[in-house]
Parts: sequence; C-alpha cells; structure tokens
Amino acid sequence: MARTRVVFLLYSTLTIILNLMPSQINSTTLEADTQALLEVKLAIDPNSVPPSSYLNSWDFTVDPCESTGSQFLGILCNLPLDNSSSRVTALDLDSIGYDGFLTPSIGNLTELTMLNLDKNKFRGPIPQTISNLRKLTRLTLSDNFFTGPIPLGISALKNLQHLDVSFNRLSGSLPSNISALRSLTYMSLSNNAFAGRLPDLTGLWQLQTLDLSINQFYGDIPNLPISLRKIYFNHNILSGHLTPLKGLKLLKWLDVSDNRLSGAISKDIMSLKGVVHLNVSYNRFTTLEVINYSLEGPMLQVLEAQSNHLKGHLPVNLVTLQNLTNVNLANNEFSGIIPNEYGAKVITSWRRLYLDHNFLQGNLPQEFGLKTNVRGSLANNCLHCPPNLVLCHGAQRPATECVGNHQAP
Ligand SMILES: *[C@@H]1O[C@H](CO)[C@@H](O)[C@H](O)[C@H]1NC(C)=O
Ligand SMILES: *[C@@H]1O[C@H](CO)[C@@H](O)[C@H](O)[C@H]1NC(C)=O
Ligand SMILES: *[C@@H]1O[C@H](CO)[C@@H](O)[C@H](O)[C@H]1NC(C)=O
Ligand SMILES: *[C@@H]1O[C@H](CO)[C@@H](O)[C@H](O)[C@H]1NC(C)=O
Ligand SMILES: *[C@@H]1O[C@H](CO)[C@@H](O)[C@H](O)[C@H]1NC(C)=O
Ligand SMILES: *[C@@H]1O[C@H](CO)[C@@H](O)[C@H](O)[C@H]1NC(C)=O
Repeated sequence: MARTRVVFLLYSTLTIILNLMPSQINSTTLEADTQALLEVKLAIDPNSVPPSSYLNSWDFTVDPCESTGSQFLGILCNLPLDNSSSRVTALDLDSIGYDGFLTPSIGNLTELTMLNLDKNKFRGPIPQTISNLRKLTRLTLSDNFFTGPIPLGISALKNLQHLDVSFNRLSGSLPSNISALRSLTYMSLSNNAFAGRLPDLTGLWQLQTLDLSINQFYGDIPNLPISLRKIYFNHNILSGHLTPLKGLKLLKWLDVSDNRLSGAISKDIMSLKGVVHLNVSYNRFTTLEVINYSLEGPMLQVLEAQSNHLKGHLPVNLVTLQNLTNVNLANNEFSGIIPNEYGAKVITSWRRLYLDHNFLQGNLPQEFGLKTNVRGSLANNCLHCPPNLVLCHGAQRPATECVGNHQAP
C-alpha cells in the first residue's frame, strides 16, 4: 500500500516535471498531427459544436497529446519510448451531430488505429487519403450523410478488422480488391445506395459478419468465406440461386429476404447445422426441401419463407426440426392438407404458424381446435374450419379458387 503511494507520488512529480518542460523532453505531438487535428476541427461548422462536446475541448493553445484530461477529448496518443514526438492513435468523436466535412488531412494521422465518427452529420465524400491510414483496425463512419463511393484505396488497409459505413448515402459498387482486407471480421455497408454486382469475397477469410442489407446490389450471390456467422443481404436486387451459401458451416443467421432469388430453398441450406434464423421471404423461390432430421438436426428456430412461389404439399418433415418455434409459409402456392403431424407441434413447441394465402384444403388436425398459445393465421385458404378458431378467420377463398385449380388430394 505505502509502496504504491510512493510510486504514485514519484509518478505525479515526474508528470508535473514533464508538463513543465515539454521542449526538453521533446515528446510533444508531431506537428503534422496537430495540424491535421486543426483541419479536422476547421471543417466542422462551429454552430454544430456545443460547449460540452469533445470538439469544443480541442484548444490549440495547448499541445494535443500533452493536454490534461479535460482537453482534447476523443483522442488518444502513443507514448514515445525515445525522444520522438507523440502521435495520435485514436480519434473517437462523440455522437453529437457535428455538421461538416471530413478533411483529406485525416490521411496525415498515419498512426491512427481507430477512427470513429458515428452518428454525426458529416457529408461529402470519404477522402481518398484514408488509404494512408495503414494502421487502422477500426473504421466507423456509420450514421452520417457521406456521399460518393468507398475509396478504391481502402484495400490498402491491411490491418482493418471492423468496417462500418452503414446508414449513409454512399453509392458505387463494392471494389473487387476489397478481398485484400484479410484481417476484416466485421463489414457493414447497410442502408446506403450501393449498387452493382458483388465481387468474390472468399479472400476475406476472417469475416464473421457481412451486412449488405438495404442497398441495390444485383446479380448472383458471390462466393463467400466459410468464416461467416451472420449474413444480411436483405432488401437488394440479388437474383439466381442460394448455391454459394451451401458450404458455410459456421453460419448462424441468414437473411436474404426481399430480393429476386429463385429455385430451391434446398436441403443443403436447410441442413446448415448452426443456422437458427433463416429469412428467405419475399423472393421467387419455388421449392422448399426439408428432409427428416429426427436423428440429428439443425438448430433452426425461425423459418421465414413467406411471399415466395413455393408449391407442392406442406413439408411434413418440418416437425423433425427440434428447435423450430416460428414458421411462416404464408403467401405461397402450397396445396393439399395441413399434415396431421403439425397438430402435435401447435400444442407443444410451435409459437407462430402463418399459413395464410395458400391453397390448402380439407380438415384441420384435431389439435388446431384446442386452446393453444400459437399466433398466426390460416386465412385465405380453402380449409374446413371450425367457426370459432381464431387462426381460421377468413379461411375460405372464393369457391372458384378452391375447387377450380386445386382439387382435394
Ligand atoms: C498533410 O500531408 C501533406 C503531404 O505531406 C501536406 O501537403 C499537407 O499540408 C498536410 N496537411 C496538414 C494539415 O498538415
Ligand atoms: C534525445 O534528445 C537529446 C537532446 O536533444 C539528445 O542529446 C539525445 O541524443 C536524444 N536521444 C535519442 C535516443 O534520440
Ligand atoms: C484496388 O483496385 C483499384 C482499381 O480497381 C486500384 O486503383 C487500387 O490501387 C487497388 N488497390 C490495391 C491495394 O490493390
Ligand atoms: C424477414 O424478412 C422480411 C422482409 O425483409 C421482414 O419483413 C421480416 O420482419 C423478417 N422476419 C424476421 C423474423 O425478422
Ligand atoms: C423421421 O424418421 C424417423 C426415424 O426413421 C421416423 O420415426 C419418423 O416417423 C420420421 N418422421 C417423419 C415426419 O417422417
Ligand atoms: C435444440 O434442441 C435440442 C433438443 O431439443 C436442445 O438440446 C438444444 O439445447 C436446443 N438448442 C438451442 C440452441 O435451443
């Protein structure tokens, strides 16, 4: 205890001396870094810099890296081992609505490992000079008004692990040499105006989360790295088949909803062991292949396959997916009866069951008449329903649709 205090006193004294004699110790901020910070601040509208904000604490009458705790909030510096100057290693601004541009001088802060401007009002392009920040591991520009493309040089940031440019107004395509970012584990381009075909991404061999949702990417799903855990491709214009996804053994979450994908939701996809959430809704799939998983099955809990063109009988084998609780097959072209096996599920594990807007016929499994906790709908089918069953409300389509194209089996 006493010892700690002595060390602390020594340390404090030393700090005071250091602060009094910055020129002798020569560990002040590198001039170019100070200049770059000044440029960062000058590119922001002062009216968007409130008194309590980080940027307001940037007082250039003191040295950035030598300033005390209440000044130059939002930056970190390294402690040089020798006489050399301190360098800025992190720029992590508060989310206060700074309104302005990101100056190209940002590229002079070449020791930055982290740049975070999340939730502000930066507009204009992401400067090309960002490609000089070779030590960057985290780049977070999300929730701003950046426009223009991702700078091509971004592929030079070999140490980048986390790239988040979501919720901006960025456009252009994903540069094909993005695959050079071999340290990347997280990439979100979600909620922008990106377009174009997706390049082969297998080079991103450490990537775990890939979020390209709510953009205008088109063409086929590209080849993807097997390291992926979470894929969000929802709300794009992707077409073709799911085939490139079939080897992704570590996948837990897959959302490809609201695209133009077609063909089969094949057993290769349904059998992915770790997937708990599968959203393939709002596409043009025509078949759903479910095999008998009674021995050892996938972990699937949520199956969202509504609003496709799925045909044939409802898959009986759905009941062999032990962890399944939510089933949505509404708005498809399923015909025939509701399998009796579904009855046991609505009184045990299933919590949501949407089968509305299909061409289902015949009587319901007995258990559907019991009081259950299942939410869902059987509306717009051709079913013989007990009049008081909530799920059944409006189950009958016009007689022509029921007896015309879809004969009872
Ligand atoms: C950044 O570096 C470039 C090239 O060395 C130089 O021309 C420019 O003036 C620097 N910007 C600042 C703000 O120091
Ligand atoms: C540190 O600076 C002092 C004074 O300028 C100089 O004498 C010394 O050689 C320098 N040491 C190193 C390691 O650069
Ligand atoms: C990435 O590709 C673009 C053009 O496609 C090129 O200008 C850039 O230098 C490339 N970057 C790297 C690191 O290869
Ligand atoms: C599945 O995707 C659709 C369309 O994008 C969306 O409306 C729905 O909420 C998603 N389902 C779940 C459970 O997230
Ligand atoms: C699945 O296979 C098991 C074992 O072969 C069998 O007992 C079960 O009835 C099958 N389930 C369905 C829904 O066919
Ligand atoms: C899935 O179900 C199995 C068997 O019922 C159970 O042991 C396991 O814990 C469940 N897994 C998840 C992730 O819920």
